[in-house]
Amino acid sequence: MESLGNWRRSSYCGVPNSGDIDAQVTLMGWVQKRRDHGGLIFVDLRDRSGVVQIVFNPEDAKEIHERAHSLRSEFVIAVKGLVRARPDGTVNRDIPTGEIEVMATELKVLSVSDVPPMPIEDDTDAGEDIRLKHRYLDLRRPKLQKNFILRHNVAKATRDYLSDNGFLEIETPILTKSTPEGARDYLVPSRLNPGHFYALPQSPQIFKQILMVSGFDRYFQITRCFRDEDLRADRQPEFTQIDAEMSFVDSEDVMEMMEGLIVHLFKEALSVDVADGGAFSRMTYKEAMDRFGLDTPDTRFGLELTDLTDLLRGCGFKVFSGAVEAGGLVKAINAKGCATFSRKDIDGLTELASTYGAKGLAWVKITADGWQSPIAKFLTDDEKSSINKALEAEEGDLLLFGADTVMVANTVLGRVRLELAKRLELIKEDGFNFVWVTDFPLLEYDHGEKRHTAVHHPFTAPLDEDMDKLDTSPGDVRSKAYDLVLNGVEIGGGSIRIHTKDLQEKIFGKLGISDEEAGERFGFLLDALSYGTPPHGGIAFGLDRLIAVMTGSESIRDVIAFPKTQKAYCQLSEAPSTVGSKQMEELFLRVMKKTQ
Ligand code: AMO
Ligand code: AMP
Repeated sequence: MESLGNWRRSSYCGVPNSGDIDAQVTLMGWVQKRRDHGGLIFVDLRDRSGVVQIVFNPEDAKEIHERAHSLRSEFVIAVKGLVRARPDGTVNRDIPTGEIEVMATELKVLSVSDVPPMPIEDDTDAGEDIRLKHRYLDLRRPKLQKNFILRHNVAKATRDYLSDNGFLEIETPILTKSTPEGARDYLVPSRLNPGHFYALPQSPQIFKQILMVSGFDRYFQITRCFRDEDLRADRQPEFTQIDAEMSFVDSEDVMEMMEGLIVHLFKEALSVDVADGGAFSRMTYKEAMDRFGLDTPDTRFGLELTDLTDLLRGCGFKVFSGAVEAGGLVKAINAKGCATFSRKDIDGLTELASTYGAKGLAWVKITADGWQSPIAKFLTDDEKSSINKALEAEEGDLLLFGADTVMVANTVLGRVRLELAKRLELIKEDGFNFVWVTDFPLLEYDHGEKRHTAVHHPFTAPLDEDMDKLDTSPGDVRSKAYDLVLNGVEIGGGSIRIHTKDLQEKIFGKLGISDEEAGERFGFLLDALSYGTPPHGGIAFGLDRLIAVMTGSESIRDVIAFPKTQKAYCQLSEAPSTVGSKQMEELFLRVMKKTQ
């Protein structure tokens, strides 16, 4: 192994081009590939900027040519050499350095590598286990390096935009008290306060509101949040928010400012104009649920839901009429041209529907002879033709029905709609489709717990015009909450907050939180609200989700340097792990045996 000595890089590997012909360069990086060709040895040298071709010629530099034989993938080397044009026929127009190559005159091997357990290439079939265990190798792949360069650029552009608009970046505690975002907390035992625990913040929500009480006027933070919830492709136990709060504003002001942020980020980091001369589209929660079944409407394709509840009230098919009688819905999708779906295709969709709580997924194929369907016999000709009309059904179509509670019927068909779009390839890969979803319900009823819970969080203000329903029909009160949805993914959410103590206490009451509990959990916020609070509101964007959509990544794991698995496990560091008995004693902790 050789030391760097006084060698210093003249540029990154991906930089030299035809303007540098005859220049002396010093390049350093990893050996991507070594090829021996009739005496010449070619090495593709890689760093985060790209690759460059190095040539070792036995006639020019016999000694280093000899040594180049021993170079293997992922060795770290330094090369001095002369840039020259590639011979005719060997130019590679796909890479920026493709018109040149570097004739090596000196070589240092700075570090050797074992044979890597996975090739360092964008298209890898290495399993996620291997990738996460050897994350340092996975992260060398150009695609992942690009993701993190983009992530950095987005973070920088965020700081620039928000600073230019008067926001101050202020840090809030990580060792704190339970916050009200609705997930389970991660707890940290306190050595100095035996039997007491900090909670890691699910968001800086309460602190950012208190910063408004303190008069900072505009706050932001790019901050880690921690939530112990079941993980999916777009959820990690620790994730990053672009968190912001503003004083003396209403919803419109926050949405306008934050739309400006998003437009700025896409322009700076991707050179894409997502404003396209106008504002992002808007949709109320109710419209999103009616048309798309989900509060994260993907409006890049049709296949919208049709409500057949009124039409099928009292019909002969008990599954439908029963759902309506119970206060639920019957909704349907016309999967245009899908009458060719096999039994297996439909069974697959039914299985998907059942994972979202459906008891079945009734279907109808429209054939030349009319309805082909297991439910045809339960409906009259009139009902069938009304359904055909409502769904604009034509020969060759497949109709899919969900009958259940409002939430289940909507969710099921909303999910089936997304699956159909995937199967039918209805979504064009490029393009960014933004929708603000507004007017969420303030409260939803939890049948298990037999009480209302906050749809956003308990600090969200009700709409002024719905205030009088708080006592009479709390479930109908809409809130000053808004979510930003990008390509069907919720990338951010926020609200105007309650800024008076009276109303905050009243809402806690509606949520079944006793005065005592409110005092214990949120007393410091209630106290703060007693000392002069400006009207305020804000939002938090999920930075990981935003970057995942911007980079076209399937999972947010591809935009988090050291992510965790589905079981919240870090394959690289092997956390979480057991700790020694001394540490446990210091914390006054004992582990109980798992019973089941
Ligand atoms: P909310 O809980 O909606 O709001 O979170 C804001 C955004 O954070 C992202 N997000 C996640 N990303 C990855 N993994 C997770 N487990 C995860 N959970 C949430 C989503 C979401 O839109 N304090 C409020 C904001 C406010 O009211 O200002 C809050 O945290 O993209
Ligand atoms: P059954 O008579 O129960 O066999 O159901 C006939 C058809 O109705 C089957 O295709 C089921 O998948 C479908 N089905 C059953 N329950 C529901 C429901 N709640 N919503 C929609 N379709 C259903």
